[in-house]
Amino acid sequence: MEENRTEILVTGGAGFIGSHLIEQLLENNYKVTIVDNFDVFYSKEIKLKNISGVINNPYLKVIDIDILNTADLYARLTDQYEVIVHLAAKAGVRPSIEDPIAYQDVNVKGSQNMLEFARHKNIKQFIFASSSSVYGTNKNFPWKESDVALNPISPYASTKISGELLGHVYSHLFGIRFIALRFFTVFGPRQRPDLAIHQFSKKILNGEAINFFGNGSTRRDYTYVADTVQGIFNAIQYTRTPFEVFNLGNHHTISLSEMIHTLETVFNKRAIIKHLPEQMGDVPITYADISKAEQLLNYVPKTNFKQGITKFKNWLETQ
Ligand SMILES: NC(=O)c1ccc[n+]([C@@H]2O[C@H](COP(=O)([O-])OP(=O)(O)OC[C@H]3O[C@@H](n4cnc5c(N)ncnc54)[C@H](O)[C@@H]3O)[C@@H](O)[C@H]2O)c1
Repeated sequence: MEENRTEILVTGGAGFIGSHLIEQLLENNYKVTIVDNFDVFYSKEIKLKNISGVINNPYLKVIDIDILNTADLYARLTDQYEVIVHLAAKAGVRPSIEDPIAYQDVNVKGSQNMLEFARHKNIKQFIFASSSSVYGTNKNFPWKESDVALNPISPYASTKISGELLGHVYSHLFGIRFIALRFFTVFGPRQRPDLAIHQFSKKILNGEAINFFGNGSTRRDYTYVADTVQGIFNAIQYTRTPFEVFNLGNHHTISLSEMIHTLETVFNKRAIIKHLPEQMGDVPITYADISKAEQLLNYVPKTNFKQGITKFKNWLETQ
């Protein structure tokens, strides 16, 4: 029955990760409200398609609100939410260098708006989408949450550190359990169109050249979206401590050259490479120690890179 369902507020729920999360929440008998302003970073049509499979679910509400619009937040979000999963953000490292103030506004002020909302509405659990980029040029691999040497090299990364710190304040002052999840380059069906795997795949399929930055040695701890979502799902149930930070990576790094090689194998087509210098703001390696998430969140990534790319290809072919 509807009354017995726990209600979760998911900001950014029409996006890549959010749309997978809400499917899992609805399947597990939660009631979900999405707050999303269908930001122009990529098209509204894509986001509506992301949630098209669940849009008619009676336990889902989709509300078009900008998290910077506090009047709208308080006027239109009237239900009782047990948990906020705050995924809404301006995402992407490189565009944050072009427009750092917009990133600061949405990712820091917007996050604080949601924390204030939690405070005033007495919502006691807040899950925050942080990022591996907070570690920046830290060289202590694999990265552990206990390492306080955060060396961000992009405006985006600094906004995610700010979000985590705000979370600590609200946890301490107002008893809101705050869990920051540092996602590591998430991929899979519906991946954001700006991300490398998505762009490269389309270009390989179309026989166009792909932009290959640096010498191919940069490495990423790619994480399949269903694994990330399992981590978020488990964080929603986590109650042991009032504030935690978790790496949600895969604990396995793939170089840019290996990534392209896997795409060539799975798509069964050679890539045309256009060599370009390294990009500002891009870190050389991301590599997660995930033992803390394994222990406290029962987080166990299950999909390896090639399996995930195969699932991504199968999805891309239906688009
Ligand atoms: N995808 C990754 O690899 C990755 C890695 C690390 C962190 N993250 C973080 O995870 C979260 C989700 O990422 P994603 O890849 O699904 O991105 P996404 O862009 O697909 O989803 C973000 C959603 O937030 C919405 N949004 C943006 N600004 C908003 C605003 N002002 N008000 C309301 N909604 C707004 C967008 O319309 C979008 O639907 C983000 O916070 C991102 O920074 C993602």
